[in-house]
Amino acid sequence: MHEVMLAAAYLLASLLFILSLRGLSSQLTARNGNFYGAIGMAMAVVAIVVATDNLALPHVLAAIIGGALVGSFLAARVAMTAMPELVALLHSFVGGAAVLVGLASFQAHFGGDGPHLTQNPVLLSEIWVDVFIGGITACGSVVAWAKLKGLLSGRPLLLPGRHALNAGAVTASIGLLVLALSADPGQAWTYLLAMMAISGLLGVHLVVAIGGADMPVVVSLLNSYSGWTASAAGFMLGNDLLVVTGALVGASGAILSYIMCKAMNRSIWNVVFGGFGAAPTTKAVAAVGEPLAVNEADVAGTAQWLLDARRVIVTPGYGMAVARAQHAVREICDLLRARGCEVTFAIHPVAGRLPGHMNVLLAEAAVPYDIVMEMDEINGDFIDTDVVLVVGANDIVNPSAETDEDSPIYGMPVLQVWHSRKVVICKRSRASGYAGVDNPLFYNDNSAMLFGDAQASMAGILQHLKAAD
Ligand code: TAP
Repeated sequence: MHEVMLAAAYLLASLLFILSLRGLSSQLTARNGNFYGAIGMAMAVVAIVVATDNLALPHVLAAIIGGALVGSFLAARVAMTAMPELVALLHSFVGGAAVLVGLASFQAHFGGDGPHLTQNPVLLSEIWVDVFIGGITACGSVVAWAKLKGLLSGRPLLLPGRHALNAGAVTASIGLLVLALSADPGQAWTYLLAMMAISGLLGVHLVVAIGGADMPVVVSLLNSYSGWTASAAGFMLGNDLLVVTGALVGASGAILSYIMCKAMNRSIWNVVFGGFGAAPTTKAVAAVGEPLAVNEADVAGTAQWLLDARRVIVTPGYGMAVARAQHAVREICDLLRARGCEVTFAIHPVAGRLPGHMNVLLAEAAVPYDIVMEMDEINGDFIDTDVVLVVGANDIVNPSAETDEDSPIYGMPVLQVWHSRKVVICKRSRASGYAGVDNPLFYNDNSAMLFGDAQASMAGILQHLKAAD
C-alpha cells in the first residue's frame, strides 16, 4: 500500500478511536462509541495486512478468527459481576503480546548477523521499555484476575521493605539496559530475559500488595499500563497508529483510575504502591458488640410506603447486580411514575464493582436516562424525599464515611440517604459490604431493613403494587 494511503488509514483509525472514547463517555452515545472503535480497529487491521509485504496471510487470518471466536464466546458468557475478572485477564494478553513482540524485535534486529547494539541504542531502549511494562502488565494482570476470581486471597501481601524491593527491581532493570548497551548481542539477550523475569516479578509483587477492595482500580491501572506498553511497542516497531492508540488507552485508563480513587477518597499512589484496601477491618463491626436492634420491613409494608410516597429515590448497589433485580426495579419505577410519583435513581461513582456498573444495568433494563442521577446532582434532594429504596447497596450509603474518622472509608463521598423521611434497605442480612465495615444506617429510627434476595424482594413489592392498581 502506498505510504500516503497507509498514513491516511492510520489517521482515520486514530480519529475513530478518539470518537469511540468520546462516545463511550455517555450512556446515550456508548453504542456509537463501540461501533466507531470496532470500525477503527477493522480499518487498522486491514491497512496493516495490505501494507505488509510477504505476510503469512493464513496465519494472520487463523489468529484473527481464533481470537474473535474465543473473545465472542467469553464476552457472551461473562456475567456483569465477573467483568473486572475478564478485563484483567484480557490485559494480561496485551502485556504478554507486548513482551513477545519485544523479544521478536530484538531477534529481528540484533539476532544472527544483525548490527551491533551500540549502533541502535534507541531501539534497544524501546525494546527494554516495551518488555518491562509488558512484563508488569502481564503478570500483574494474572494476579489481579486470580484475586478477583477468589483463587488468591484478597488480603494484601506486604513483604518487609516492599518499596525498596520495587525500587530495586526498577534500578536493576535500568542497570541491565546499561550493561546490554555495551554487550554483545548474545549477552544482551540474556540481560533482556533477566529483565523480563524481574518485570514479571515486579508485576506480581505490585499487585499482591494491594487489597481486594482496590482491585477494580488496579484493573483500571493495568489497563493504563497495557496502553503504555502498546505505545512503547509502537515506537519500537515504528508504527504511528500503535503509538497513538496505546497513548489513548494509557491516558484514559490513568484518568479512570484517578476518578475511581477520588470517588473512594484514596490517593492513587496508595493504590499503586499497595498495602491499602486491606480485607475487612474488624474495628467497626467488633465495636458494635451485641447486635443493635433494627426495624424490619416486609414487602407489603414497603409497597405501601411507596404507594403513599410523593417522591422516591432508588439507590442501587452491588447486590442489585448479583440478584439481577434491575428489571423488577424498573417495573416498580414505571408503576409508581404512572401513579404520579416522582422516581429518580441515585448512582454513586463506585457503586457495584466496576465503573458505570449501575448505569449499564439500568440501561439494560430500559430505565430512562433522564431519571438516573449522579451523586453530586442528587445528594441535596434526599432531604425532600419520602422513601429511599436502597437495593443491595451498603458502603455507598454508609454515614460513617462522614462521621467516623477511624473508619477505613472515612472521607469517601457517600449518598446521604439518611436525610430522607424513610429509608428501606433491601439486602439479605446485616453483613458488611466490600469495605468490610458495619453500617450505622441500618440502626437509624427512619431506616427499615427489608431482608431477602433483592430479586425476590423487588418481585414481592411489584406484586403488591400491581394488586393496588
Ligand atoms: P457493597 O458495599 O459491596 O454492598 C453490597 C451489598 O449487597 C452487600 O452488603 C450484600 O449484603 C448485598 N447483596 C449481595 N447480594 C445480594 C442479593 N442477592 N440481594 C440483596 N442484597 C445483596 O456494594 P456498594 O454499596 O455497591 O459499594 C461498592 C463497593 O465496592 C464500595 O466499597 C466501593 O469502594 C467498592 N469498589 C467499587 C469499585 C467500582 S469502580 N464500582 C471499584 C473499587 C471498589 P448481604 O450479603 O447482606 O445481602
